[in-house]
Amino acid sequence: MAKICVIGTGYVGLVTGTCFSDMGHDVTCLDIDETRIEQLKQGIMPIYEPGLQQLVDQNVEAGRLTFTTSYAEGLQNTEFAFIAVGTPSDADGDAEMKYVKMAAESIGRNLSHEIIIVNKSTVPVGTGDLVAEIINDLNGHQPPPFSVVSNPEFLREGSAVNDFMSPDRVVLGSTNPEAAKKVADLYEALRSPIMITDLRTAEMIKYASNAFLATRISFINEIANICESLGADVREVARGMGMDKRIGPAFLDAGLGWGGSCFPKDVQALAHMAEVRGAHPQLLQAVMDINCNQRIRAVNKLENALGGLDGRTIGVLGLSFKPNTDDTRDAPALDIIRLLLARGATVQAFDPQAMQASKREIPDLQLRQNPYEVAQDADALLLATEWNEFKSLDFERIKTKMRGNVIIDGRNIWDGGDLHDLGFDYYGMGVPRPDSKK
Ligand SMILES: NC(=O)c1ccc[n+]([C@@H]2O[C@H](COP(=O)([O-])OP(=O)(O)OC[C@H]3O[C@@H](n4cnc5c(N)ncnc54)[C@H](O)[C@@H]3O)[C@@H](O)[C@H]2O)c1
Repeated sequence: MAKICVIGTGYVGLVTGTCFSDMGHDVTCLDIDETRIEQLKQGIMPIYEPGLQQLVDQNVEAGRLTFTTSYAEGLQNTEFAFIAVGTPSDADGDAEMKYVKMAAESIGRNLSHEIIIVNKSTVPVGTGDLVAEIINDLNGHQPPPFSVVSNPEFLREGSAVNDFMSPDRVVLGSTNPEAAKKVADLYEALRSPIMITDLRTAEMIKYASNAFLATRISFINEIANICESLGADVREVARGMGMDKRIGPAFLDAGLGWGGSCFPKDVQALAHMAEVRGAHPQLLQAVMDINCNQRIRAVNKLENALGGLDGRTIGVLGLSFKPNTDDTRDAPALDIIRLLLARGATVQAFDPQAMQASKREIPDLQLRQNPYEVAQDADALLLATEWNEFKSLDFERIKTKMRGNVIIDGRNIWDGGDLHDLGFDYYGMGVPRPDSKK
């Protein structure tokens, strides 16, 4: 069993460290955020991720998982140092590299033995070389031998533990095939396909994968908008398309568009990488534009249905960028709420996990304790995130609470016909209006 240090205890780092410890390795999770590490030492999770708390508790109890803010302590006798720090967008749309650079520097300064550095953060192509350069160039310091391996992570928030434990593939890239093989050995117990390639190609696979998934969603949203103007039903269109084995059914749900901590910044960073090298990423640009417009379309729909937003009360169900996470980074719900507030509406909302984070971002947002409180005196309801608990609400009860009757089903989870029969004015995304059904 290996001794591993995982740097960064966010969605990727904490899940990676915990899962490796559950596979029997000796893992130290390291973060510069002292509060976060103190909480973890007390058994308090800094993020919501299904199944994670139990797995952390079990492995801490078994003595395989520890937490620290000290690089000297975290790297002691470590064979592998995984970098899993954040890479948000910078002002130019490029990936912000300061956390990765800081982590590389800290590794370099505290390195006293041979090590393999594994980059799990999503980083611009060429970063593996940059990490090596940073460590080699540290003033007055001759580092022990080390190798850099790129190991992009493909887990999804909301099912991160399962995704880590059963990946579709593990991608590894390095200029040192022996180092890549040693990292591959760590994953062997998962019995998933392992692909070993060069450093830059591994880094590119991550961006290309996220950009492709975002493209599928923007594609189906464009089709949804065309369906709306032609009276076709995008849900059935997607079902019919998905039966084609060349296409497949995943990522063909029309709605309010993609968000979260990965797709927006990764598509933008890929476009930026292309632009600075003189390429014209036209498709990526269109994918981002469609996504942005999708939020505006939903707000316009609401405005038209109500005959104006000024002075109206809108209830919003769901705030996180997708179900089963508390992550609100680039969440469609928050963009929509900002637009609604800017057009003079009052917004009251509920989310099972993401209320505090949303309130921090939008102080004017009014929080409610459940969907029925959200409906109270609302002129319209807008479903932004398809949490399971929103799928079967008591709409008769909701009807008695609301002042108006407009429903925007931003994720197409409800039966428009049923809601129409209950007296609601229902709008889906790319689906025919219920009253227009023959
Ligand atoms: N969140 C996802 O679903 C997901 C999926 C795949 C890949 N990724 C990629 O993985 C990386 C991490 O994403 P995340 O969502 O886990 O980030 P996050 O923001 O949740 O967590 C990052 C953590 O790194 C810590 N950190 C920053 N600088 C540090 C340093 N120098 N030393 C030690 N710790 C440091 C921060 O304090 C924070 O706790 C990103 O590059 C992201 O694009 C994320």
